[in-house]
Amino acid sequence: MNFRDLRRAPLRAVAPYDPGPSLSELKARYGLGQIVKLNWNEDLFGLFPGVQEAIKDELRQAELYPERAYADFRNLVAVRTGADPTMIVPAHGIQSLVFSTIGVFINPGDRVVIPRPTYGLYRQACEAAGAEVVRVPTIGYRFDLDAMLGAASGAKLVIVCDPNNPTGDALTASEWEAFLERLPAGCLAVVDEAYADYLPAEQRPRRVDDVRTGRPLVVLRTFSKLFGLAGLRLGYAIVHPDLVPAFDAVQEPFNVNRLALAAGMACLADPSFIEARRREVVHARDRFAADLGQVGIGSWPSQANFILARPGGNDMEWYEGLLRRGFLVRPGSEFGLDGQLRITVGPPALMDSVLQAVADLRNDLVRETTTAAG
Ligand SMILES: Cc1ncc(COP(=O)(O)O)c(C=O)c1O
Repeated sequence: MNFRDLRRAPLRAVAPYDPGPSLSELKARYGLGQIVKLNWNEDLFGLFPGVQEAIKDELRQAELYPERAYADFRNLVAVRTGADPTMIVPAHGIQSLVFSTIGVFINPGDRVVIPRPTYGLYRQACEAAGAEVVRVPTIGYRFDLDAMLGAASGAKLVIVCDPNNPTGDALTASEWEAFLERLPAGCLAVVDEAYADYLPAEQRPRRVDDVRTGRPLVVLRTFSKLFGLAGLRLGYAIVHPDLVPAFDAVQEPFNVNRLALAAGMACLADPSFIEARRREVVHARDRFAADLGQVGIGSWPSQANFILARPGGNDMEWYEGLLRRGFLVRPGSEFGLDGQLRITVGPPALMDSVLQAVADLRNDLVRETTTAAG
């Protein structure tokens, strides 16, 4: 059997997502007992109160499909976001929603505009669907909104990651409004708000209102970042109610498991805790960026739970050097950002040890360069 030819044509050229070596492989390769993961922007601040109890409770109903839990989740998300429950499409994470959004809108040959650099899954999902992907380079760490709008003419979708991964930049509310206003007819914006929970409420564009008033927009959100549930897989889309049947047609019914739904609802129980946690992460991030600056390493301003640092030189040397010291970060060259490092932010005590490792490594690298030159 020739399986190659049985596959849909676009899949013959698409490479799957490569998560890189596993932690156990890395530990074995570098002889390390422990590695701190600062490479995937997972949460490092701990579970929200009530999550463990909610999961344990929900386990008692494991034999039942999550019909009621699904409806309850939708209702609670609606209350917290100011949307109507009929606008909420639960799913097992933004990753699954990227694929279902493409399943709803994209025919082979349709054009999709994405920024560069940005979250890698958009390109993979679009190419797997046979879309033509146009990548619009950022200007420094900021989106080139004019160029994105120019490329959007004749395109079906424009995907905006806001705040963007890996640059950490966020659009202002007025930049967003102007962008949406100028979006060419027939083109729909998909906004990945995975990191929007780190923005103060008053800075977030009011996209729920845009969706409600029928603007061409789909918003994707997750519980994987601020809420710390990446391992449970939980997210949702906010879409116009007229689009929900199409999402329901491409997604499995009750596609989120009970434990994830229960955990998500527990996270939303106390808005004051959410805000306190947001401030805690933002404080740790800004302090780490300032500390990096003190040791002479610049970084772009970030609105997310990571920092894009610019130590310069060969980022693979930095990656390796930090790994040998027990810290796994993301080399910028993976995104086309040579000489840069994306570092997930954790609690201050952890970031102090990361800073120490960065400073020691910088001294080692300088010493090596000087020795080589001498
Ligand atoms: C921009 C962005 N979107 C989505 C995701 C993944 O979201 P989820 O865990 O909800 O699938 C990530 C994870 O790193 C991300 O950086």
